[in-house]
Order: sequence, then structure tokens, then C-alpha cells
Amino acid sequence: RKVAVLISGRGSNLGALIAAAMKPDYPAQIVAVISDKADAAGLERAKGFDIPARAVARKDYDSREAHEAAVLEAIEETGAEIVCLAGYMRILSEDFVRRWKGRMINIHPSLLPSFPGLDTHHRALAAGCRVHGASVHFVTEVMDDGPIIAQAAVPVLNKDTAEALAERVLKAEHKLYPAALALLARGDVRMSGDGMSSASGAG
Ligand code: GRF
Repeated sequence: RKVAVLISGRGSNLGALIAAAMKPDYPAQIVAVISDKADAAGLERAKGFDIPARAVARKDYDSREAHEAAVLEAIEETGAEIVCLAGYMRILSEDFVRRWKGRMINIHPSLLPSFPGLDTHHRALAAGCRVHGASVHFVTEVMDDGPIIAQAAVPVLNKDTAEALAERVLKAEHKLYPAALALLARGDVRMSGDGMSSASGAG
């Protein structure tokens, strides 16, 4: 399956997806990388692997709607069948989400439904969590809220800092995202009509 990855920054999850997709038996290929920021480091990372990568910068458009339409067009030009959000820091409109429903996934650095939104590592520490982690989920109209495809838990250690915890979670993300994308690309998981994710054959 052809996959477009949307980023805004560093692109380390993008790097993990690219590395996984280079393996011969991986069921997806990264055909395009699109960033809403011209200076996103992830763009260079992708170009280093000869993957078409371009910015569709928000500042080049008058409105949020016009920008989003350009992003949508850029994705569709690539022939992508699946969209992966990997640190894409923009809220998508309902129309965009509807267009890609069941075929667009996101990685979020917490064990959802705990800690949607920003600053998850600080918040997990402040809440006294003893486990934290990351989730890959289908994207729906509500931010960080769609059906969960896969999760990875990491321990919170004594005297952890948000930075140390973030680093531990990020390592887990780099295994989790390729594994979750493979499930979707192989058709082993799907988003069913009632908004639940389920393994095929399981209901
Ligand atoms: C990751 O922590 C991801 O979970 C979140 O944004 C961060 C992106 O990091 N959505 P990177 O750009 O993949 O390095």
C-alpha cells in the first residue's frame, strides 16, 4: 500500500517508517512526505532516502481552508492510499478527516484515552503515573480520540524527568508506528462503521 506521511518537524517517526518500509516483506511503501513547515528536518531526512518530500507551508496561503485544500491535493497527487500523521501539528477539518476516514492514522505520545493534547510527558509525571507510553489510532473529527490500533507502555522511573521519559517513549514509538501501519496495510485492522477498530475476522 502507498503511504503519504505528514510532518511538521524533526521526523524521527517518519525515519522509523522509512526504515521499516525498506524491508522486503513490509506491506507499505512511503511514496511522499509533506510538511506544513518549510524548515522541517524530516523533509531532508526523506530526501536522503530519495523519497519525494515537499513543504506546503501554511504561510503561503491566506486561510486555513486554502492551506488544507493544498495539502489534500498534494496527498492525492501522490496516489497514496493511507495517510500517516507523524508529528503533524495542525488540527484537520471535518471534511479532511471524512475524506480519509479509516485510512488515516496518527501517533500520540500517551496511553490514550489518557492525556490527549500537548505536553503529555509532563502531565503523566505530574499525575503520578507509573506507566506511560504511546498510541497509534485512527484519526476522527475529535483530536487524539479515534479508535486505537496499537499501544506501547513504558515504565515511569523514579526521578524521571519529562525529557528522559519522552526519550523512552519515543524509542517505543519508533517500533510501534511501523507495527501499527503494517496491521492497517495488511488489512488486519480496520475502522468499522460504529467507530471501533477491530481485527479483520473478529467482528
Ligand atoms: C512524537 O512524539 C509523536 O508522538 C507526536 O509528535 C512527536 C513527533 O516526533 N505526535 P517526530 O517528528 O516523529 O520526531
